[in-house]
Amino acid sequence: MNRKDFGDDFFWGVSTAAYQIEGSITADGKGPSIWDVFSKKKNKIFNNQNGDIACDFYNKFTQDLYLIYELKIPNFRFSISWSRIFPNGTGQINQQGIDFYNRVIDLCLELNIEPWITLYHWDLPEKLQEKGGWTNRDIINWFSEFVTCCVKHFGDRVSKWIVLNEPMVFTGAGYFLGVHAPGLRGLNNFIASVHHAAMCQAAGGRIIRSLHPNPYIGTTFSHSYLEPYNTDNVKDHHATKKVDALLNRLFIEPLLGLGYPLADLSILNRIEKFIKPNDMELISFKMDFIGLQVYTRELIKYVPFQPFLQANIVKASQRFVHHTIMDWEVHPDCIYKAVKKIEQYENVKEIIITENGAAFDDDLKDKRIFDLLRKDYLQNHLNKLLKAKKEGSNIKGYFVWTLVDNFEWAEGYKPKFGLVHLDHQTQKRTIKESGFWYRDFLS
Ligand code: BGC
Repeated sequence: MNRKDFGDDFFWGVSTAAYQIEGSITADGKGPSIWDVFSKKKNKIFNNQNGDIACDFYNKFTQDLYLIYELKIPNFRFSISWSRIFPNGTGQINQQGIDFYNRVIDLCLELNIEPWITLYHWDLPEKLQEKGGWTNRDIINWFSEFVTCCVKHFGDRVSKWIVLNEPMVFTGAGYFLGVHAPGLRGLNNFIASVHHAAMCQAAGGRIIRSLHPNPYIGTTFSHSYLEPYNTDNVKDHHATKKVDALLNRLFIEPLLGLGYPLADLSILNRIEKFIKPNDMELISFKMDFIGLQVYTRELIKYVPFQPFLQANIVKASQRFVHHTIMDWEVHPDCIYKAVKKIEQYENVKEIIITENGAAFDDDLKDKRIFDLLRKDYLQNHLNKLLKAKKEGSNIKGYFVWTLVDNFEWAEGYKPKFGLVHLDHQTQKRTIKESGFWYRDFLS
């Protein structure tokens, strides 16, 4: 397998997110985000860590963009911190926030790296959370204001746009399970935020389309390849179907004009009370591409006493299979299966793998990191992606998660996904073998 097999127009990249790398959480007029607040609460994050400094990308972006350049990665995906631009969520624009992203974009272009902007990667302005955040329908207007501002300020140089990062994760973990910011729980919070995020997903796309002369617009979905734990057990099959509707279908189907998958997920029936006339037309939008973020396969077991779904994910460690620090099974076929499944939807034009990568323990020895597990992981997943591509799947790109070891949300700094190692004491970056492998592959 080599780069050429994927075609000359294939987008190769690396993905990051503002809160996970930037640090400088109060610099130059930035307002607080829900992650600034949540990460300070006791026992929410591994070892009570937070993103106050993270990779110090705010000050070290030049170094990091040069790393991308050195690694010969032609596309860089990063997100905009909403509260850097709008410290209060809406209203007054903070010019210094705009200036920062202008510097990032300009340096990308100077280095011949194409910038890909994710508009929302989970760090909602705290001021908006005080008004209910994603549970408040007004977020459709707040988000529209933010998107409009970003397209107006950056659209002269940026044509690649990603509206939301994994809405299932930020609504599920943030508004249902309470394990991510803002730490809310309960079905009502979840359902309200699902509907409003799904509305914003389409609204964001429409705004970009109306303001930008030649945009390439997408949005991303987490996608787990699911199988029943016991393939002979009908109940495990039913459970898998429900979990699939929740994890893999809940956001893409309304976007594609298919409505919510309520037939397979009756616990969400109450969503209807949040749906206003015309919503189900406004909720769909023709994206240029669908971003899939694929890491693993999950096995699903019927568990009668489990509330809501009567289903559980059987963790990889309990199954004694090869897994990462996240306890995610290493199962390269998942990427092939994800593409094959999503391309069956009629309105999906192009697919980009906007994240794929692995967290393993890295050992720094003689200033080198032989992270062969990560290298194998990437290589094996790419092989499976190529298989799908050769069979005719319309896959247009692949982005590794991530550049530098960073703040991994509730897991803190423990899981390391980077192609580049970070020493948190000194902020020194060291390219890992996987980084060199990616460079050689791209060369
Ligand atoms: C998210 C990233 C995260 C990665 C690994 C994705 O869910 O978009 O922010 O770091 O997976 O957990």
